Amino acid sequence: PPPIEAFGAGKVILLGEHSVVYGHPALAGPLSQGVTARGVPAKRCQLTLPPHLSRHQRAQLTAAFARAAKATGEPAVKVTLDADLPLAVGLGSSAALSVACSRLLLKAAGKEPTAKETARVAWEMEQEFHGTPSGVDHTTSAEERLVLYRRKPGTAVGKGRVVDSPKSLSVVVALAGERSPTKATVGALRERQARWPERYRRLFTEIGRVASEGAEAVASGDLAALGDAMNVNQGLLAALGLSSPPLEEMVYRLRGLGALGAKLTGAGGDGGAVIGLFLEPAPAVAKLTALGVRCFSSQLAGPRAT
Ligand code: MEV
Repeated sequence: PPPIEAFGAGKVILLGEHSVVYGHPALAGPLSQGVTARGVPAKRCQLTLPPHLSRHQRAQLTAAFARAAKATGEPAVKVTLDADLPLAVGLGSSAALSVACSRLLLKAAGKEPTAKETARVAWEMEQEFHGTPSGVDHTTSAEERLVLYRRKPGTAVGKGRVVDSPKSLSVVVALAGERSPTKATVGALRERQARWPERYRRLFTEIGRVASEGAEAVASGDLAALGDAMNVNQGLLAALGLSSPPLEEMVYRLRGLGALGAKLTGAGGDGGAVIGLFLEPAPAVAKLTALGVRCFSSQLAGPRAT
């Protein structure tokens, strides 16, 4: 049989990171960048580990793959991985990898890789990578659509409602500073909220509202309202202690280049990814690239430019 291929998209959170962990809604969309898994027939189900991984990463990836293999009946394929997405900067690279592997294994097992099935298998892998993530990353990647995601109260997983955009929705993604591990920022925030629960609950609730309003703004084609929601969300993330000088500086740079809204995306902390909402992203990418900023643009939703 010929080799098979499957793609898993990276993601950006437009609104609602962190508060999503506490059960509030988050608006997230798939990137065109991601991870591709390729499979060739083999004697048993196995993964060729990518080069340059630490011992810990190798062990984690091996364990995660074993869980997906088990969940799909161990189809006899040898899998290789290939990423065109910056790794471990808050763009959902582990979820992209999990979705690519899960889709591939489902296909190899002769099963239909629906969004639901893919998400079910990818969730097995994500738990190995992250412990108890909110589930927004792999759900967005498996749906490959803009979703308003919400964790089900009392459970680990949640549901994404697809949000249709009548307008083309494009972001510039720019990297800034030195990335903090998600586990560390989520953990430090958990300690603060455990100590001062009322104050933090108010901020999480407000971010959840802003995310819901942002989803409505997208559905009605009001990109100015979405941009404003992103700016307010950035202020609330800073209030939660999740921003830093490199992230703030990039946020203001993107706004200076004409972004309708700009904010950190993902976990935040000392550095990571920042997004800006642009009607025309190409000039901003050209300017930032000339300044030596690592950046790219991606269309998250809406009618495709031909
Ligand atoms: C995930 O990309 C970002 C966080 O909200 C963590 C999570 O949802 O599990 C910070």
